[in-house]
Formats: sequence, C-alpha cells, structure tokens
Amino acid sequence: MSQKKADQNGARILLVIGGGIAAYKCLDLIRRLRERGIVVRCVMTKAAQEFITPLSVGALSADHVFTDLFDRQDEHDIGHIRLSREADLIVVAPATADLMAKLATGLANDLASTVLLATDKPVLMAPAMNPRMWQHKATRRNRDTLEADGIAFVGPNKGEMAESGEAGEGRMAEPIEIAHAIETMLDGKEKPLAGRKIIVTSGPTHEVIDPVRYIANRSSGKQGHAIAAALARLGAKVHLVSGPVSIPDPLGVATTHVESARQMRAAVEALLPADAGIFVAAVADWRPATETAEKIKKKAGEGPPPLALTENPDILAGIGHHEKRPTLVIGFAAETQDLFKNARAKLNKKGADLIVANDVSHDSGVGPGGVMGGERNSVVIVSREGHDEWPEMSKDDVASRLAQLIADRLGKAE
Ligand SMILES: Cc1cc2nc3c(=O)[nH]c(=O)nc-3n(C[C@H](O)[C@H](O)[C@H](O)COP(=O)(O)O)c2cc1C
Repeated sequence: MSQKKADQNGARILLVIGGGIAAYKCLDLIRRLRERGIVVRCVMTKAAQEFITPLSVGALSADHVFTDLFDRQDEHDIGHIRLSREADLIVVAPATADLMAKLATGLANDLASTVLLATDKPVLMAPAMNPRMWQHKATRRNRDTLEADGIAFVGPNKGEMAESGEAGEGRMAEPIEIAHAIETMLDGKEKPLAGRKIIVTSGPTHEVIDPVRYIANRSSGKQGHAIAAALARLGAKVHLVSGPVSIPDPLGVATTHVESARQMRAAVEALLPADAGIFVAAVADWRPATETAEKIKKKAGEGPPPLALTENPDILAGIGHHEKRPTLVIGFAAETQDLFKNARAKLNKKGADLIVANDVSHDSGVGPGGVMGGERNSVVIVSREGHDEWPEMSKDDVASRLAQLIADRLGKAE
C-alpha cells in the first residue's frame, strides 16, 4: 500500500447523495474511496433513491444506508447528530441545486439537510445540474454564500450532460477528481501554501489570421500544467489559465481555457488579487494586425497575401507593474541565445521577482522533443540576487522544486 493510501486509512466520509442523474457516479466514487482505505457511510435523499437504490449503495459501502430523518430505529442506533460527529469530512455528491439552496438558507427538513446544518465538520460539495440551473442567479448566490461559509467545492465541469443535447457547465466532477479533492482535504499535514491563491498560465496562444488559420508555437503546456498541479499539492488554491493544449486539466486546479494572448490577459486580470502569479505560457509576441472574417482565398497570379503583425499585450509586464500586483511574480523566458543576459534584462523590464530561463534551442541537450513539447527541462532561476542553475530533470521535478521555492519565498515575504 502506498504512503498516501496508508495516510488515509480509516478516514471516515459521510457521503450525502442528492437526487440528480449523476447519482450513479457515486457508486464508482464509493468504490474508489474504499480502495484508498476510506470508510464511507451514506445518506441518500428521497430524490436520490429515484436514481439509484439504497441496496446498491449499501452493498458498495458495506454499511447501512441512512434515508429517513424520522426512522426510529436509525435515530435510536446512530442519530443524525452522530452521523456527522463520526465523520472526518462530509461530501455532498451530486450536490443538487436544491441541497445547495437548503444549506445556503439554513433549511433542515430532511435527513441530508439536517445533517449538513448540524455538522461542525468540513463539507465538500460536488455540484451537478443542468447548465441553466447552475447559471441561475439564485444558484450563483447560493454557491457564493456557501463558499463564504467555508464549504469547499469540486467542479462542476464543462461538457456533455447526461440529458441528451445538453452541454455546458454543470456536469459533476469525475469520481477520480472528487476522490482527489477528498484526499487533499483529509491530508492533515501542514501544507505550506494552504490559504494562498496562485495564478498560473500555461500552453501556447493561438492568434487568428482568418476563420481557419492561426499563428501558434510549439508549447505543449506540460511544464505549466505540472507547476499548477505541484502548487495545488502544497495546498494552494490554483487558478490555471491555459492556452489550447492537448493534455488534460490538472487535478484539483480550477482551469480557464483561452485561445489568444488578449483572452489570456483578460482571464488573468479577472483573477487578481492573488498571492503569486507564475507566467509559464508561451504567449505570442505578435498577432495578425487584421483578423479576416472570411477565409483568405488563394487567387491565381496574385501571389501570397501580405501578413502584417501587431504587438500583443505583454501579460507578465502588465501584471509585474499592476496596481494589484501579486506578492510574487515569476516569468518564464524561453531563449535560444544569451540566456542569462536576456533573462536578467527581462527581470527588470517586466517587474518580475524571478525569471525561470530555459534554453529552447534545438541543441539544448534535453533529449527527444527538446524543451518545448518534451518531458524534460533544464532551467536557470534568475533573481536580483544572482542565479541558480538547476540540473536537467523531468518537468514534474522542476515543478515540485519550483513550488517549494515559491512556498519559501511567500513564507519569507510575510
Ligand atoms: C430526470 C431528473 C433529473 C434531475 N437531475 C438533476 C440534477 O442533475 N441536478 C439537480 O440539481 N436537480 C436535478 N433534478 C431535480 C431534483 O431531483 C429535484 O430538485 C429534487 O427535489 C432534489 O432533491 P434533493 O436535493 O433532496 O436530492 C432532476 C430531476 C429529474 C426528474
């Protein structure tokens, strides 16, 4: 058994299953939690029992399933107060619009809502609902209230809904994501970045020429995504703003997807204030001066059309000199020549505290794929005090080491 699993062994979850189509995913969630040595006890709402049965939930959790506030036997055996007292964490999945509304307003008219109101334990909600229900002002209000009350959230995700023809934000987080969020909340270790909000950018940007063409670069997003994940592992609340990449969103990280440099800047600015901003994305320096609404046609005898470029916003410099500048601003410099000189010049010009410089030239010696798109990286950390050359290592190792450095720097900045 891994150390992680051993740490969670015996942890107790009270899983409140609400009445939504995503209730079926809870069966998988229970299985995954039990695989991790977590004890799961379940409460089902009346509506939840329309979607899955207490029989299957009980079989998977190997425990009695609690469904009725006024069941004399249940109340005698355990009681609704003990249900919450005996858990380390309460998880609501799927968290229906109804359950969120009840807890946000303090209603307690069935077993699930009474347990949620009567508990002093941490609560994690995994909302799942139709995108229009999720977007409704009332639900947004309830979510904000619950967050202000200290309730943690995982998801919802964007995507295809169980109801045919529906797509948007409202799909319940996958069981593996919920299990990960639970593990993070259960992990009692002091996390050096707990309570910190950190923005990370990653991937390339696409700059539109016409409806079918764009200017891009070779960035895969692997390094930025790995940094976002490493910061989340140290307890930070990480917001990742990602350009178009083909790798999955990191677990436990709130990800916003953008295409162009201008969209990336707007997304980053909307996330301020933050404790730190880590700008890993390979943002295009230039974009086509004009964006053509129609596909540019190849015309016989006319030769190629001219492609005039205009400068893109400099996101790092903008945040480095922003009135809401994060305490720590770190930029990445992809260079093919004069690594140190260029990195040091960037440090001052951009108002950054650190520049992580990497040599992205094809002869940089980091193996197949080079730095951009490859699995390994070799970086130099340039600060006003000097520089630190790190040995070549995997992008995950660079991420872990950088996350620790960020934790140390933020700790010292207090
Ligand atoms: C087919 C069907 C699917 C539903 N899916 C959801 C859902 O995904 N999310 C949600 O909030 N409500 C959904 N509802 C509505 C809830 O079941 C309803 O609001 C119920 O009162 C919730 O009860 P509970 O919060 O006690 O579980 C659905 C209803 C039906 C009939």
